[in-house]
Amino acid sequence: MKFKFIFSVAAISCILATGCCNTSVSSPDGNINFTVKTQEGKAVYTVKDGNQTIISNSALGFIFKGEEAELGAVEICRISTDSKDETWEQVWGEERFVRNNYNEMTVRMKETAEPGRIIDLTVRVFDDGFGFRYSFPDQEALKEFAIAEELTEFRFSKDYMSWWLDQSVPYYEDYGHNTPISQIDTAHTPFTIEAGEGRYFAIHEANLTDYAKMNLVNTEDYCLRAWLTPWSDGTKVYASTPFQTPWRTMIIADDINELAMSRIMLNLNEPNRIEDTSWIRPGKYIGIWWTLHKDYYTWYYGPRHGATTEHTMRYIDFAAENGMSAVLVEGWNIGWDGNWMKNSTGFDFTKAYPDYDFDKVMKYAASKGVQMVIHNEYAANTDHYLSQIDEAYKLYSSYDMHYVKTGNVNVLMDGKEAHDGQYGVNRRRKIVETAAKYRICIDEHEPAMPTGIHRTWPNLMTYEGVRGQEHDAWEPDGGNRPDHMTVCPFIRGLAGPMDYTFGTFDFSNPNYPFCRVRTTLAKQLAQYVVIYSPLQMASDDPKAYEGVKAFDFIKDVPCDWHESRVIDAVIGDYTITARRDRNSEDWYLGAITDENARELNVALSFLEPGTEYIAQIYSDGPDADYESNPESYSYSEMTVDQNDTLHMKLATSGGCAVRFVKK
Ligand code: NOJ
Ligand code: CA
Repeated sequence: MKFKFIFSVAAISCILATGCCNTSVSSPDGNINFTVKTQEGKAVYTVKDGNQTIISNSALGFIFKGEEAELGAVEICRISTDSKDETWEQVWGEERFVRNNYNEMTVRMKETAEPGRIIDLTVRVFDDGFGFRYSFPDQEALKEFAIAEELTEFRFSKDYMSWWLDQSVPYYEDYGHNTPISQIDTAHTPFTIEAGEGRYFAIHEANLTDYAKMNLVNTEDYCLRAWLTPWSDGTKVYASTPFQTPWRTMIIADDINELAMSRIMLNLNEPNRIEDTSWIRPGKYIGIWWTLHKDYYTWYYGPRHGATTEHTMRYIDFAAENGMSAVLVEGWNIGWDGNWMKNSTGFDFTKAYPDYDFDKVMKYAASKGVQMVIHNEYAANTDHYLSQIDEAYKLYSSYDMHYVKTGNVNVLMDGKEAHDGQYGVNRRRKIVETAAKYRICIDEHEPAMPTGIHRTWPNLMTYEGVRGQEHDAWEPDGGNRPDHMTVCPFIRGLAGPMDYTFGTFDFSNPNYPFCRVRTTLAKQLAQYVVIYSPLQMASDDPKAYEGVKAFDFIKDVPCDWHESRVIDAVIGDYTITARRDRNSEDWYLGAITDENARELNVALSFLEPGTEYIAQIYSDGPDADYESNPESYSYSEMTVDQNDTLHMKLATSGGCAVRFVKK
């Protein structure tokens, strides 16, 4: 009976497949409406939220390479509709369960004159935004083809203020820029718009597969247009039918929490393809890393070599004694001597330097129940890396080790192609899929901008792609700005996990005295809650943690959550985030500020009603200041419940980190 009913709904959908010149679909709550129509023969779309037009008459379509490059006039008709309301469970994440609730329509655009090409546009509208993608069905008029330009536009009605990363800065390691839309240079997505009255829009993409990354340029007034990262020959994408593009997405949020917690991107990716995920475990790692960046040790072999057997075993001991799940070691393998960026074929991913007994270290870690995060810097030489990858991953997993940190330092991939063009995107996918085969999780540095592929391949656990804490070790400008972390969650953070690698307790930097971590210690702690990653590093030398009470917070704080909320934030000023542990009933709270000290009140209404909690509070000391006294913090405890308000005093570039333990 039920089957029959579903069948008749499908039949009605087909009847809708009649020619029309204006067709639309609305969100499940009816507020957001997406309309496709033709304007002078070209397909355009409009998006309204209630009575407000957010996007008006924006272009859809392509310019192809070769003859008859531009898609001519099209006629449009709706060929199907669908809707879904389901809840799925994440392998790891900011929240355990995700609701996927949308209405869908697919519109066929058919060129009216020769060659009569067909492109379908599938639109999904959610209560918090929309996504659409183009598909090119198998057809006589289009077999092999190349895209010269994707014409997708986002035409706004107003010159809103926006937050964006500059496309010309390598590896997305940029500060967020804050300008009107009309003044952007080529920008990355996520591209976040402050729409006034506490509302936000954010443009991004989902499921970037076999395609080039979408960047945005400002064309006229406040119209943004897609600009795909090109191949070295200028082509944007090579394809053959059937073919489909990633989803173009926009969050339409009524407040900053809705912006940060929108799951449109994940919902528009394919479900998890890894059956047994028992080896994919969120966790915290320490590592021989920060002391390399501060030049106490070297990656290369010599008298100051960091990755020695003994040194690594000390880290393993510390991890085992302090509940850290893994140890990262950089510089263990052959290839770091001389100019490794130029001579990347010198890297060997299975052969260690003479003072690093690979077998002994791996067995020692296994005996202590500690995982190794095995570092594979391949300097963007994927040809070389892929020639060794099977052998390397097989070796690592033979010791029951499941984590690899990849490095991609070199602006061009394989000396020729962009990191996030179609070539780079496909090369990286090959690495992730190979890793899954050998039960290896990836922490990808110098990644392509995340677009939710980690839903399908949850072994792709975290990514850099952010101006991370390494810049605080050596950057000539003095280190990351105090406001940086109050911006990150709302631009880059919308795309997925960030391996930012905080955890500094020792703020001295004698080798590079011009540069330093520019936060207080309490802010370092709070960042574990504010910034999401299923793998989090405690990046300081373990010596800095010994005997320090504040390290308890790093030990306690989870990296896998039942639910998460941005309680309050002003991008660029401050952020307060609360999250509930996935494996206990504890809540955690992190508050951070920019260069300005400030006092913040947080209503604890997120706690379970009728329940008392012990709040373990790590706050800035009364004399804390990120420049003159970053180490000063204080610890206190108090009993609270959901009717209480927590008053926090944050120092300059300070923070407050709280664990709420159910009584
Ligand atoms: C850049 C990475 O982001 C960093 O973490 C790593 O230490 C260096 N590359 C060397 O591979
Ligand atoms: Ca980096």
